[in-house]
Amino acid sequence: MPVSSQNHDVGQVDAFESGRPYVVCVAGRDVVLVRRGNEFFAIRDVCPHHGAKLSDGLLTGEVSASRPGEQPELLRKDEFLVCPWHGWKIDVRTGCSSLEPDCIRVRRYGVHIEGGRVLVALS
Ligand code: FES
Repeated sequence: MPVSSQNHDVGQVDAFESGRPYVVCVAGRDVVLVRRGNEFFAIRDVCPHHGAKLSDGLLTGEVSASRPGEQPELLRKDEFLVCPWHGWKIDVRTGCSSLEPDCIRVRRYGVHIEGGRVLVALS
């Protein structure tokens, strides 16, 4: 339901569990909405490679070790969507591919919380 020409109400905050992707329809576009604690992220539900639905992918993080041989740790948990077709990894915070962030990206939308409702902004 549109709240203004740009902000679209997609549901109650409590309707979205942290750590899993949701598809919401915003002005006729499929958008992936991800909640991570009290933060929400929204990106277009189309992979920039060959068009798979990113919402069908897995949410993951980054695995990193500070030195060779050290135990790696999981960083930025639930901030990346892995495309289900060929495995491209998209940062839901920025919409950028982790492989080539400067040239491969998905459209990102602003998300606001107002009165316990989640609003996605199209701009
Ligand atoms: S369609 Fe997403 S990686 Fe190929």
